[in-house]
Amino acid sequence: MYKLIVMLHLLGASIWVGGHLILSLGILPSALRARDPAPILAFEQRFEKIGIPALIVQILSGLWLAHYWVPQHAQWVRFETPQATLIAVKLGLLALTAVLGLHARLALIPRLTAAMLPQLAMHIVAVTLLAVGFVIAGSGIRLGGLAW
Ligand code: HEM
Repeated sequence: MYKLIVMLHLLGASIWVGGHLILSLGILPSALRARDPAPILAFEQRFEKIGIPALIVQILSGLWLAHYWVPQHAQWVRFETPQATLIAVKLGLLALTAVLGLHARLALIPRLTAAMLPQLAMHIVAVTLLAVGFVIAGSGIRLGGLAW
């Protein structure tokens, strides 16, 4: 079971992180240059159909894996072992991702104009950096920490 959940977690990570890197590095720069939000909105509309299910898979498989590594849930936020510390970091990254995602979806995207593009761009770059942060923190759990 553990191996299957790790595989699902890695598959979901590929979709979530890969999609955001394509958006940040492949689509955002030209949209900013052209001051045109349309390509971003078109990508988001297509991506969210697999991106949101992938994020849900990440959360469910991530909580399962967190329980596998640190079965006492109270220790998830006590920073006592490298695994518990990195689980707390991942929960923090998840909270920030949720806040930024909800703000973009509820406050920015419904009334998006070319003038608001830089603000949306900052959101996209921030969510992409958080996604990369998930990968870095996640790899440290099995490696016993991130210290070299
Ligand atoms: C988009 C969100 C996420 C991404 C991209 C992500 C990515 C990753 C990656 C790449 C690994 C390394 C797996 C390995 O060592 O083979 C990992 C491991 C892990 N992640 Fe996540 N993760 C996400 C969300 C979460 C959440 C919400 C939790 C819950 C706290 C979580 C908990 C874990 C745990 C416990 C591991 C260690 C798995 C193991 O190696 O046994 N992850 N994650």
